[in-house]
Amino acid sequence: MYNHDMDSGLVLRTENLSKVYNGGYVRVAALKSVNISIRKGEFVTIIGPSGSGKSTLLHLLGALDRPTSGKVYVDGIDIYSYGDSELAMIRNRKIGFIFQAFNLINRTTVLRNVEMPAIIAGIPSDVRVAKAMQLLRMLGIEDKANFKPISLSGGQQQRVAIARALINDPAVILADEPTGNLDSKTGLEVIELLSTLCTKYHKTVVMVTHNLEHASMSTRSIYIRDGMIEKEVVYQ
Ligand SMILES: Nc1ncnc2c1ncn2[C@@H]1O[C@H](COP(=O)(O)OP(=O)(O)OP(=O)(O)O)[C@@H](O)[C@H]1O
Ligand SMILES: [Mg+2]
Repeated sequence: MYNHDMDSGLVLRTENLSKVYNGGYVRVAALKSVNISIRKGEFVTIIGPSGSGKSTLLHLLGALDRPTSGKVYVDGIDIYSYGDSELAMIRNRKIGFIFQAFNLINRTTVLRNVEMPAIIAGIPSDVRVAKAMQLLRMLGIEDKANFKPISLSGGQQQRVAIARALINDPAVILADEPTGNLDSKTGLEVIELLSTLCTKYHKTVVMVTHNLEHASMSTRSIYIRDGMIEKEVVYQ
């Protein structure tokens, strides 16, 4: 099938993306007809006040929820045209998630945490262990492979989460305030790492942040207000 998005290097695209939450008494229009296009290798930051719809947008970009209307294309695939089991498979193969609270499994090792998405994808043990170790080496925490995540520093735990996000070679890495639980120096290191993933390894990162210094290290900021795009700022 001819794929316009793949042809033009678009990894992520939304079409009139809208989300309404129906919570009991109140109906919240969290996202209102948002149109975004993101190219391979871009490092895009999403900025906006609390409650403006940033996390809602990220969840919809990452196949974690379903829109009320509109579309999300990942690598040209209209992801919400699929049922729940296919959608879970798309999420596993195409999306890497990094959260503020790391969301690592503390009863197992760092290595096993990184392997997890590859286990779900059915990658053979020797292949996924080699890949996980290679990522841990790249991120400078190879010596922590057999530790429990809880025994690592915050910055090291976030690196584990980054390795886990990378293991299936996703089309896009989505990060929701990944430095929110880190001190400013460690936070800056994580942002530099994400930036390097884009410039050196041609990964695509979309990150929610409240930090304007971090935002200025991305290639482009999309400002969200009241569920709508307010403006875009392109750097350098
Ligand atoms: N599961 C939900 N049910 C009902 N309303 C929700 C739900 N999730 C979010 N909302 C509402 O949707 C709006 C957008 O929320 P969202 O979490 O996307 O904001 P945000 O920009 O990420 O904010 P923050 O910076 O505080 O994380 C808010 O008004 C919020 O209360
Ligand atoms: Mg949020």
